[in-house]
Amino acid sequence: MGKKLFITDTILRDAHQSQAATRMRVEDMLPACELLDSIGYWSLECWGGATFDSCLRFLNEDPWDRLRKLRKALPNTKLQMLFRGQNILGYKHYADDVVEQFCRKAIENGIDVIRIFDALNDVRNLEAAIKYTKKYGGICEPAISYTISPVHNEDYFVKVAKELVQMGADVICIKDMANLLLPYEAYSLVKRLKAEVDVPIHLHTHNTTGTGDMTYLMAVQAGVDIVDCALSPLANGTSQPATESLVATLKGTEYDTGLNLETMAEAAKHFRGVANKLKTEGFLDPKVLSVDTNTLIYQVPGGMLSNLISQLKQANAEDKYYEVLAEIPRVREDFGYPPLVTPTSQIVGSQAVLNVLSGERYKMFTKESKAVLHGEYGALPGKVNEEVRKKAIGDEPVITCRPADLLAPELDKYREEIKDVMRQEEDVLSYALFPQVALKFFEARAKAGEEEAPAVACEPEQSAAEEDAETGVTTLYVEDLTI
Ligand code: CO
Repeated sequence: MGKKLFITDTILRDAHQSQAATRMRVEDMLPACELLDSIGYWSLECWGGATFDSCLRFLNEDPWDRLRKLRKALPNTKLQMLFRGQNILGYKHYADDVVEQFCRKAIENGIDVIRIFDALNDVRNLEAAIKYTKKYGGICEPAISYTISPVHNEDYFVKVAKELVQMGADVICIKDMANLLLPYEAYSLVKRLKAEVDVPIHLHTHNTTGTGDMTYLMAVQAGVDIVDCALSPLANGTSQPATESLVATLKGTEYDTGLNLETMAEAAKHFRGVANKLKTEGFLDPKVLSVDTNTLIYQVPGGMLSNLISQLKQANAEDKYYEVLAEIPRVREDFGYPPLVTPTSQIVGSQAVLNVLSGERYKMFTKESKAVLHGEYGALPGKVNEEVRKKAIGDEPVITCRPADLLAPELDKYREEIKDVMRQEEDVLSYALFPQVALKFFEARAKAGEEEAPAVACEPEQSAAEEDAETGVTTLYVEDLTI
């Protein structure tokens, strides 16, 4: 019996987030939608992750409007988004009423599949998003954030997967944001999950370390149900392995995807033009395509490395790069081995920078480091260095409950704050997630009146950074490539 492999194409989300700083516009997408819709993908990942922030901050685009346009242009394909658990698409914890309203509005505006992950794999941070995805009729795909550490082994990942199925997962995703999952480990993990878990397994990796295609092929042999690929013009390197290559590899085998290479070639032609435009605009640097062997050695995701370079440049301390690189695993160990994915990758990275630049480890803490050690992001996977924790938060008790249980409903407050400028209920959510950026966007929208708002010039130096007043170290978020 054949076991057809299903494919999710990430060309409309992770591919350009990973290679071109999330700068693809909806006008770049729409002309190819009819073709994309006819290919027969399991789903098209097209929303969430950093696209929401990028729409408002850089592209002067209403992310909700983008979603509605895509829904209309892609009537036959499931639309998929990436959702950061209790952080939704932002970088802090939101109250449950905001999570509920976001799931509801995402589904109402056209999303079918919500992939939900938590940086720490604390399943309590996925509870609300799982519950509300199901309540509003979405397909719920919780993810395991894959990482390597002394506490992260196969048993651990299988245990988390089983918990997620108990909580209502329709599909389980193995989310390998840094391409750390090597081919034989992938085979073994998928085999175990297929034997012990009853829902389909969806694998997400990148080609950062050059092993992505091999990892997929081994996962296919082990019986994986769905994998994430990107059409060739924005594939490989920090992005996903190329769709066409895998489709061709499996043609005529028992795993044949049944997808048509000629149709894909036509769609690829369109996106080659888009990729060239992004290159001209300076958002696609050819270095994203090179194989990054440092990640295999240091287990530091590629995106974190480019963030580090920016932070060190800002501080005129580029010569400290290797010192910081060596400090990252030490900070990670002290913090109980969080996976290095947004937002923990940036938090660990910034703390490592601070430890090196201040000349003394933990002389100062960023406020995010304090919050992580205080338990505000959830339970850390491994044992925390209590000496470091005490330095950070003193004798304050560590939060051990689900962090969102401490948050009072906040939606009405946000609605009240923007009641004079809001035009749709969805604006409340844009504002809740990115207050300053959303206000600026609402203002530009109002100025443009009935006409289409003129596109604002992109300023590459703008990012979702907030300088910590106490330490002067900026935690950078938006250009991150690790998801
Ligand atoms: Co990714």
